[in-house]
Amino acid sequence: MRNAVGDVQTVLVLGGGSDIGSAIAARLVQQGARTVVLAGRRPEAYAQAEQSLRSAGATTVHRVSFDADDTDGHPKVIAEVVSTVGDLDVTVVAFGVLGDQSVDEHDPAAAVAVARTNYLGAVSAMTVVSQQLRTQGHGALVVLSSVAGERVRRSNFVYGSTKAGLDGFATGLADALQGTGARVLVVRPGFVVSKMTAGMDKAPLSTTPEAVAEVVVKGLAGSATVVWAPAALRLVMSALRHVPRPVFRRLPV
Ligand SMILES: NC(=O)c1ccc[n+]([C@@H]2O[C@H](COP(=O)([O-])OP(=O)(O)OC[C@H]3O[C@@H](n4cnc5c(N)ncnc54)[C@H](OP(=O)(O)O)[C@@H]3O)[C@@H](O)[C@H]2O)c1
Repeated sequence: MRNAVGDVQTVLVLGGGSDIGSAIAARLVQQGARTVVLAGRRPEAYAQAEQSLRSAGATTVHRVSFDADDTDGHPKVIAEVVSTVGDLDVTVVAFGVLGDQSVDEHDPAAAVAVARTNYLGAVSAMTVVSQQLRTQGHGALVVLSSVAGERVRRSNFVYGSTKAGLDGFATGLADALQGTGARVLVVRPGFVVSKMTAGMDKAPLSTTPEAVAEVVVKGLAGSATVVWAPAALRLVMSALRHVPRPVFRRLPV
């Protein structure tokens, strides 16, 4: 529950091992959040993240099991988190897999696995959390979308399509939550240097998890539904959206 002056107190990260999710949690702790729940597939691996959060000022850090693919289990996980820490001020939907485009576009099981985690898992988690936020009458859902979903590219259309679906669901949910006291902040990063992009060549306008966290904190302080990280990508994507397909297909993106 936010404190008397409205500062975020409690943060839940779904995909607790995510570099971007951890950076957002750390930034919110710097701003005064005191309770963080890192929920992911390998909670035992988040000891260092827990230590960093405590060093930054968190007084309570829980590490819990959460598998985005186990959608039947989501209501129980969220209910247990709420019964342990109370109202959720900020929930970050940070899980995701990049997949391997060269494999995924030929292998139905591999393509479905990417879609299951990034789209179905997110749809389920967002629906469960949004029910809790409606009950609370407050709280923000921060959803890590991607510019990859804003105009899906040939070079990573399996991943990009899952982000397009997630982004559409999240922006629709943002509209549905109008007037409930709860909100959604959709974040569209470009290339972020993280575990997900390890070993890849940096794309233009590449950024860091900490810079994305800064964009999120500013977004939460304002009233926008969608933010880009870095902000310049908003203009770039706005232009790219209108490039005719035969030309777009030949661009080195
Ligand atoms: N990095 C980028 O360039 C970039 C750009 C735009 C958007 N994004 C999005 O930002 C989000 C965070 O990415 P990141 O850069 O922080 O990557 P990351 O460090 O690789 O984090 C992704 C996290 O997702 C978790 N995950 C994967 N499948 C899961 C499942 N079935 N259940 C629960 N957790 C699962 C991973 O858990 P394990 O540790 O167990 O593998 C990992 O901790 C993702 O949604 C990503 O698509 C990233």
